[in-house]
Amino acid sequence: MCGIVGIIGHTPVAPLIVDALKRLEYRGYDSAGVATIEGGALDRRRAEGKLVNLEQRIGEAPLGGLIGIGHTRWATHGVPNETNAHPHFSRDVAIVHNGIIENFAELRDELAADGYEFASQTDTEVVAHLIAREIDRGAAPVDAAHKALSRLEGAFALAIMFRGDDDLLIGARNGPPLAVGHGDGEMFLGSDAIALAPFTDSITYLEDGDWVVIRRKELRIFDMAGNPVERARQKSVGTSYLVDKGNHRHFMQKEIFEQPEVISHTLAHYLDFSAGTARDMAMPFDFANMDRLAISACGTAYLAGLISKYWFERIARLPVDIDIASEFRYREAPMNGRMGAMFISQSGETADTLASLRYCRDNNVPIASIVNVPESTIGRESNGVFPTLAGPEIGVASTKAFTCQLSVLASLAVRAARQRGHISAEREKTLVRELSEAPRFASQVLHLDDQIEKVARELSQVRHVLYLGRDTNFPLAMEGALKLKEISYIHAEGYAAGELKHGPIALIDETMPVIVIAPHDRIFEKTVSNMQEVAARGGRIILITDKRGADKATVDTLETIVLPDMPEIIAPIIYALPIQMLAYHTAVHMGTDVDQPRNLAKSVTVE
Ligand code: G6P
Repeated sequence: MCGIVGIIGHTPVAPLIVDALKRLEYRGYDSAGVATIEGGALDRRRAEGKLVNLEQRIGEAPLGGLIGIGHTRWATHGVPNETNAHPHFSRDVAIVHNGIIENFAELRDELAADGYEFASQTDTEVVAHLIAREIDRGAAPVDAAHKALSRLEGAFALAIMFRGDDDLLIGARNGPPLAVGHGDGEMFLGSDAIALAPFTDSITYLEDGDWVVIRRKELRIFDMAGNPVERARQKSVGTSYLVDKGNHRHFMQKEIFEQPEVISHTLAHYLDFSAGTARDMAMPFDFANMDRLAISACGTAYLAGLISKYWFERIARLPVDIDIASEFRYREAPMNGRMGAMFISQSGETADTLASLRYCRDNNVPIASIVNVPESTIGRESNGVFPTLAGPEIGVASTKAFTCQLSVLASLAVRAARQRGHISAEREKTLVRELSEAPRFASQVLHLDDQIEKVARELSQVRHVLYLGRDTNFPLAMEGALKLKEISYIHAEGYAAGELKHGPIALIDETMPVIVIAPHDRIFEKTVSNMQEVAARGGRIILITDKRGADKATVDTLETIVLPDMPEIIAPIIYALPIQMLAYHTAVHMGTDVDQPRNLAKSVTVE
């Protein structure tokens, strides 16, 4: 999940590398480091914690050199201190790594027995020593790297450079993404195109098992067997993106407030509002002739998938199996030719989601993906890509990507329903019109910010929170709990309201806020009964509902957040906003690092 960069340039590269790392900090921020070669010698600066610490260090002791590599870390092996920060050196070799070397313990023992001394607790350092050992045994740098790579098991994206050669950078990819950027007499390596956006929009994406030899005027890509391979050069779409919070205090806040606009863009891509139809677009599978749809994803994307199960099954009568990708990949689920598989991922790089996709591909199931980065690995390995048009999401806690995923999924459910003959043209028109109202309702809900901020003040005083909901509000309850714990570190759980009496009710006392997400829908009365059960035990209820629900809720609440009455199909999209705002303001009150919460990373490219 770390971010890596490498640059061979014609001006000092250290500031450029730091700039690129800023765009990769979403991948991890436990420590950061830069190494360069100047006058043939390797030098580096590293710092624990965020990139600002590294910038300060480089400010105090600048690094020269026209070639360099950089890293921002999400710790896997070894605590996040300076010693474990990348780049790691082994005499002639400098290296940065994203991923996990699974056989590192065995390699470390072997190298230690050969006299190589380990300075860090990382798995990465074995790669540096492995290459150095090949050089010590007489191999030239490129051969040494290739030999060492063939010993590695696990996931890696690597950038490697060598003392004494300021015109050689080696990259390798097995699992986590790695892109080569083509400049004018300069060459770049980066975990994604966004990292390289200020330098070039001409990108070659490496495939799994590729490794690349880069010089200022040369680029050679090989497979693991050492055979040359061709990879297309393409224009990246990430270049227009600037990391900018605008007038907002945090990226998360900015991204919450962008939702009316990005939901609107996304819906317009999938729905023809004037015709009142879901757009006809190329599909990897035929909804009309499918028995089941298998959906897998992680984190917030999984919860979007879970909401869509209600839509696909209710509106389109299409059975959906929904799995957490880390479970699905090992579950050995039986698949057949009448199934389709769908993967949901903001980044398009999540390791478990990608592994699940490959499982389905190996079982000959056609694959669709819903991704925010169409040129991501998941996007590229799918038979059909449904982009979310959320724009870059920087805050680690997903907000606008989630509601855009929901927008795509709702649109696809309408399309599936029509194709499967379960709704009439008239009903399709109604659903499309209702979906078209989502951006307007989202804007209205953003006006509740002050009220929600006050509720958040209360929440910031407690240690535990329970979220309850039924139907599509059950996944939303889990999303609310996930958002809150991710960024405020308050323990929270999301439960199906009907499950209350099977366990969580035991937790309820007068210190425990219970957030109930309950628009006035067909099962509202059932949820009211659950609220009664909470109230009877002294629990403090925060009810998120609509005008009809507020009128009919017969319990005393600590606070009732009243949203406008809205069509049922858009409720999950719109009700996501108050729960995001609640988590956001609570975290601000707690004084946590909202955009980069501890221990988390935006893109999880390791298991
Ligand atoms: C991490 C992020 C979450 C995200 C999840 C899945 O945990 O912090 O916000 O939902 O990964 O990521 P993906 O990129 O596959 O949507």
